[in-house]
Amino acid sequence: MHLKSALLNVMTAAAQKAARGLVRDFGEIENLQVSKKGPADFVSTADKKAEETLVYELTKARPNYGFLLEEGGEIEGSDTSNRWIIDPLDGTTNFLHGLPHFAISIALERDGEPFAGVIYEPVYDQMFTAEKGQGAHLNNHRIRVSARKNLDESLFATSIPFAGRGKHGLFLQQLEAVMAETSGVRRFGSAALDMAYVAAGRYEGFWETGLHPWDIAAGIVLVREAGGYVTDLDGKSDMLKSGDIIAANDQLHGTLSDILAKAASK
Ligand code: IPD
Ligand code: CA
Ligand code: CA
Repeated sequence: MHLKSALLNVMTAAAQKAARGLVRDFGEIENLQVSKKGPADFVSTADKKAEETLVYELTKARPNYGFLLEEGGEIEGSDTSNRWIIDPLDGTTNFLHGLPHFAISIALERDGEPFAGVIYEPVYDQMFTAEKGQGAHLNNHRIRVSARKNLDESLFATSIPFAGRGKHGLFLQQLEAVMAETSGVRRFGSAALDMAYVAAGRYEGFWETGLHPWDIAAGIVLVREAGGYVTDLDGKSDMLKSGDIIAANDQLHGTLSDILAKAASK
């Protein structure tokens, strides 16, 4: 059993508080699916309420830290080296459709670098945590990226671009290249959980483009602390700026990067 640091205790406690409201609201979705107005407004309210809870709890514990919030934008703190980067509900489309695959993602950025990350999957009570130099954990048990190195035994996660988002042609080229050589590709609809699952050794790797810092900041710490590699599509560490990311186990990160680059140059 791993004893969490004070910092991770603050982050997980905030995630659990916000999750209570989210799970309650998720229980209402089924009733709303059939209503004329539909559940979209309800979900966006649930999302904002969760974010408010997180801001309240984290400010109580660390009054001087700033925020980068998906819903609320930037809040400057008097402590300029520490900033929370938060997605209160990652997997909104799943939530909206009554699919129980969504998460809260909280990262602490310290001096411009992701330093600690918590990704909480409330429906299954899975708390993924990581802090720089301290390893990655799932419900207080150590996790590591998988040791698989053969592509034909390996499972990858990604996202499928949709109406109005992403480069559809490029994605199809890359998917074609990856699916031809691997044991499969999943699209579950939460980038934060995709990364947490790479850290836990469930997927060998994950790639996606056009993401935001709040989708990936916590996942970056998790995958790195679990022994994996994270870069953007050019092999650099500019993921938070570019929004493009490849996260994979140490064996296959290079291979996946090469496949994607080759497919893009066609
Ligand atoms: C989305 C999810 C999804 C990814 C999208 C994100 P949201 O976040 O992470 O898996 O494919 O790019 O925008 O909107 O559910 O917070
Ligand atoms: Ca998101
Ligand atoms: Ca979100």
